[in-house]
Amino acid sequence: MRTETVKISDKNRNTRTIRDAVERAGKILRGGGLVAFPTETVYGLGGDALNPESARKIYAAKGRPSDNPLIVHICRWEDLAPLVKEIPETAERLGKAFWPGPLTMILKKSDMVPKETTGGLSTVAVRMPSDRTALSLIRAAGGYVAAPSANISGRPSPTLAKYVEEDLSGRVEMILDGGQACIGLESTIIDLTEETPMILRPGYITEEMLSGILGKVETDKGIMPESSGIAPKAPGMKYRHYAPKADLTIVSGEEEAVVRRINELLMKAEEKGLRSGVIATDATVGRYQATLIKSAGNRQKEEDAARELYRILREFDEEKADVIYSEAFDESGIGQAVMNRLLKAAGHHIEEV
Ligand code: TXA
Ligand code: MG
Repeated sequence: MRTETVKISDKNRNTRTIRDAVERAGKILRGGGLVAFPTETVYGLGGDALNPESARKIYAAKGRPSDNPLIVHICRWEDLAPLVKEIPETAERLGKAFWPGPLTMILKKSDMVPKETTGGLSTVAVRMPSDRTALSLIRAAGGYVAAPSANISGRPSPTLAKYVEEDLSGRVEMILDGGQACIGLESTIIDLTEETPMILRPGYITEEMLSGILGKVETDKGIMPESSGIAPKAPGMKYRHYAPKADLTIVSGEEEAVVRRINELLMKAEEKGLRSGVIATDATVGRYQATLIKSAGNRQKEEDAARELYRILREFDEEKADVIYSEAFDESGIGQAVMNRLLKAAGHHIEEV
C-alpha cells in the first residue's frame, strides 16, 4: 500500500485542495481503510469505530494485542448518546468543562459499538479532540473514528508526522500532517462507570481539575509510581509502552546532587564503552559530559517536558543510545503525566539521591 501524506496548516486549511483531501480521508475511513491524523495530544491511527473489520486492521497495523481497547473519537456532543447506555451527570459536567479537549471518558457501551473496538469490554472510551483537522476528519468520516496512538506498539506515541511515517508508512492509506502535537502526551482517561470516578491514565487534565468539577475523584492504584506490582485498570497501561531501546534510569533529588550523580553514572558508562544520553533541562544541559544531551525545556514548565519527551526518546533510539539518564520532573500539573510516562519508559528504574 502506498501512503499519501498531506500537510495541513492554518494557512492552507480552507483551500479547496485541503478540503478535498480531508473529504477523501473521510471516504477512506468510511470504506474501511486507515488514516493517521493529528490531535492536540498525539497523532492517532484512525479507522471506522463502528466497523469491526477496521478495528482488526488497526490492531494489525500497530502490531497491538486485540484485547487492548480503542478510543472512539467524536466531533459533536449529540454523537455521544448513541454510543452509550446512558450519559451520567458526571459525563455531562466533564463534557461541558473539558470537551473538545484532552480528556477520554469511559462509559457503558451501547450495542452500536462493536466488541472488536472495545477489545471485548462492555464499556467504551470516548473523546472529543480539539484539534481542527481531527474534528474535520471525524465529521467527514461519518462521526465515529476509533484511534489509538499512531505508533507501532511499544514505541513512544508520535508527536510529529515524520514519526507516524517511520512507524506506519505502507500500513495506512493516508497521513494528515498537522505539525507538532501541542500537548505531546496522551489524553487523561477517567472511568465514569463506577461509584467514584477514577483516573486510569494521567494527562493534561489533572486530578485537581477533575475534582474541581466532580468533587471526589480517585486515581487507579495500578498507575501510581510506588505500586508497580498492581495491575492497572486500563488494559493498555499494563504493557511496557513507550520503551526506548536504551536502558533508561531516572535520577531524582536536589539539582546539584542529581547533576553530580548523573555525571558519575556517565563516567561508568563510558568506561564500559557504552553510548550514553542525558535528558536534562535548559538550566543543566551544559553540565553533563555525555555523547548525547537533550533538554526537555524549562524545568519550571512541565508542559515543555510533556511536549518534548516522546521526541527525545525517539531521537535516542535513532542515535543508538545504549543507556539514558534522565532528571526527574516535578509532579505538579501535567508533571504527573510526564513522570508516569517516564517511569514506564524506565521500567520503574528510579534512583533517589
Ligand atoms: O490522546 C489520546 O488518547 C490518543 C489520541 C490519538 O486520541 N489516543 C490514545 O489511544 O492514546 P491508545 O489506544 O494509545 O490508548 C488508549 C488507552 C489504552 O490504555 C486502553 O487500554 C485504554 O485507553 N482504554 C480504552 N478503552 C477502554 C475501556 N473501555 N476501559 C478501560 N480502558 C480503556
Ligand atoms: Mg498508545
